[in-house]
Amino acid sequence: MSRPGPERGDAGAPEGADRGGRALPTTPGGPDARNFLTENPALYEAQFPDPGHLAARWADEIGRRFGGGRRLLDLGCGTGRDAGYLAGIGYAVTGLDSSVAMLDHARKAHHAATFVHGDLREFQLDTRFDIITCLDSALLYCHTNAELAGFLEHCAGHLTPNGLLIAEMRNGAFFLGSTELLDTPGTRALTWDDATYRSHTTLRIDHTAQLLRRSRIWTLPDGTTLHQESAWRLLFPQELRYFLDVAGFDVLALFDGPGPRTDPVWEPGAAPSADAASGDRLHLVARLRAAAPEGEA
Ligand SMILES: C[S@@+](CC[C@H](N)C(=O)[O-])C[C@H]1O[C@@H](n2cnc3c(N)ncnc32)[C@H](O)[C@@H]1O
Repeated sequence: MSRPGPERGDAGAPEGADRGGRALPTTPGGPDARNFLTENPALYEAQFPDPGHLAARWADEIGRRFGGGRRLLDLGCGTGRDAGYLAGIGYAVTGLDSSVAMLDHARKAHHAATFVHGDLREFQLDTRFDIITCLDSALLYCHTNAELAGFLEHCAGHLTPNGLLIAEMRNGAFFLGSTELLDTPGTRALTWDDATYRSHTTLRIDHTAQLLRRSRIWTLPDGTTLHQESAWRLLFPQELRYFLDVAGFDVLALFDGPGPRTDPVWEPGAAPSADAASGDRLHLVARLRAAAPEGEA
């Protein structure tokens, strides 16, 4: 029951790009790779508006439903809009992102949160948190098993015992039963700051790498084109459960909706569906197991 759309949540880690025919550095999945939307955070928010702060409100409600505390780390925080909202309702929030432009925007727009530059696959902060959020598929920039394991290991190392990991992302299992996202290229025209940006997006599955690869061609207001490649890991519920277990987490909920980017969309008070995982979004709540007291097996 989720709303498909190739245009959904797609800033992040491109795998090389060319602007007007000029080759840009190729940094597969790397934090320094270029991406038109992450380089233009205001355009990102215009392309993916969330005026009601649904994503942050959903994360807050999920956190409270599962007994989370108030110190929160938002990995892949982007423009900082979720971090800013959560700080405004009383959380002590740190946002981490690999995009300098996103962080500049976040720091200017959201003074109540702290923002740090880092790579969610490998980060080192001096603080522990009660909740780690990773929203709008940021987790899926962990392309390899080693990157996913690294992400979870660093999450575990930054959570208090019984701390929560809350993530929201595309659902790999959706593609087991549906090709609709793959069959229909997405074309959009976005008017921002009196100029029109057009994008044409196609998705394909790389079965060997288990990635959903996206090609996007932007036509900029001056007529130049920008071709960017990026990819998300296709994660399936069972393998996610396995990785989480190995990293010391208990899965409390894994469900396809309702969430902030599903159709029908989440509304305050709506409970997670019971273990359904056929929609195009996947929502995860996992709790870090408290270490066993010394002497216990
Ligand atoms: C789709 S956006 C989501 C932003 C935000 N969580 C939201 O929901 O609006 C993905 C974000 O992940 C960031 N990102 C991608 N790869 C990353 C990495 N390896 N480490 C840290 N951030 C990364 C991008 O810069 C981008 O801001």
